[in-house]
Amino acid sequence: MRHLISIADCSREDIERILDRAESFAEVSGREIKKVPTLRGRTVINLFYEASTRTSSSFEIAAKRLSADLVTVKSVGSSVDKGESLKDTVQTLSAYDPAAIVIRSPHVGAADLVAKWSPAAVVNAGDGKHEHPTQALLDLYTLRRRVPALEGLTVWIVGDVMHSRVARSNILAFTRLGCRVTVCGPPTLIPRGIETLGCEVRHTLDDVGEADVIYALRMQRERMKGSFVPSLREYAARYQIDSRRLGANQLLMHPGPVNRGVELSAEVIDCPQALITAQVESGVVVRMAVLYELLTGVGDDAGGDGPDPRTRAAQASEPQPA
Ligand code: NCD
Repeated sequence: MRHLISIADCSREDIERILDRAESFAEVSGREIKKVPTLRGRTVINLFYEASTRTSSSFEIAAKRLSADLVTVKSVGSSVDKGESLKDTVQTLSAYDPAAIVIRSPHVGAADLVAKWSPAAVVNAGDGKHEHPTQALLDLYTLRRRVPALEGLTVWIVGDVMHSRVARSNILAFTRLGCRVTVCGPPTLIPRGIETLGCEVRHTLDDVGEADVIYALRMQRERMKGSFVPSLREYAARYQIDSRRLGANQLLMHPGPVNRGVELSAEVIDCPQALITAQVESGVVVRMAVLYELLTGVGDDAGGDGPDPRTRAAQASEPQPA
């Protein structure tokens, strides 16, 4: 793989290879000195045009644990504030010859454009409401460690599917690994035609008991133009996952940040079935695996653009993780 822009571009084999690689990095994360020399001398640029806590910090930690040189540029405080365009910013940063650019943007298609403007490998860390592929991968990784098999698992994604890049990437990723996915929310927050991604649609939680996993989403008000629900109180009454709705054998996931008391009640956030902290933890090893995949060209044997020749040399001379 040259870039990671969309889960739609990933085969089941690609996904499983990345998850297996992440498993091998879990051992590194358990060490006192959490570092391998794999990307020594390579530069990773984190370019964030939107708020982020988990994604930006875990990409930073991932790059550092692989010994890459890391630069984080946030739009606030950068020359973007002075009116510089994305293209000019990317071309400026490309002058440093980065091996990878991790980009988060409020605009659909931004990561794809960056891949056209820069010779670096590009990772989409969220482009508007389109996709957030590393979130989907870390969710699969988290779940795979908790359940005997993903195949045949029933996952309900509940909430603001309309404005959620996580929903889109996760529907694609979960179904690719054999899960049955249902999305649930008020009709105003479920995009028309979403079934074409391979999921079912429900507008009530009446049958949520059939889910093995409930994946709750935040109301993404920063992307809403207008009012999509009568009130948050009414929304919560119909769709909030609380201890009445979460069965003892069901797992609970959420990409964060949680709006406590809206999509989740306070008591379920900290219950034993909640994987929310495990998801955050998985973010580091999965993002290490993604950087490794793109910068060492491991998945390119079957064709593609091929790995960067500089990496082949690095691979030959460097110890690899277990
Ligand atoms: C998500 C995002 O930014 O798309 N968060 C994340 O990356 N962990 C979901 C959200 O903001 O609700």
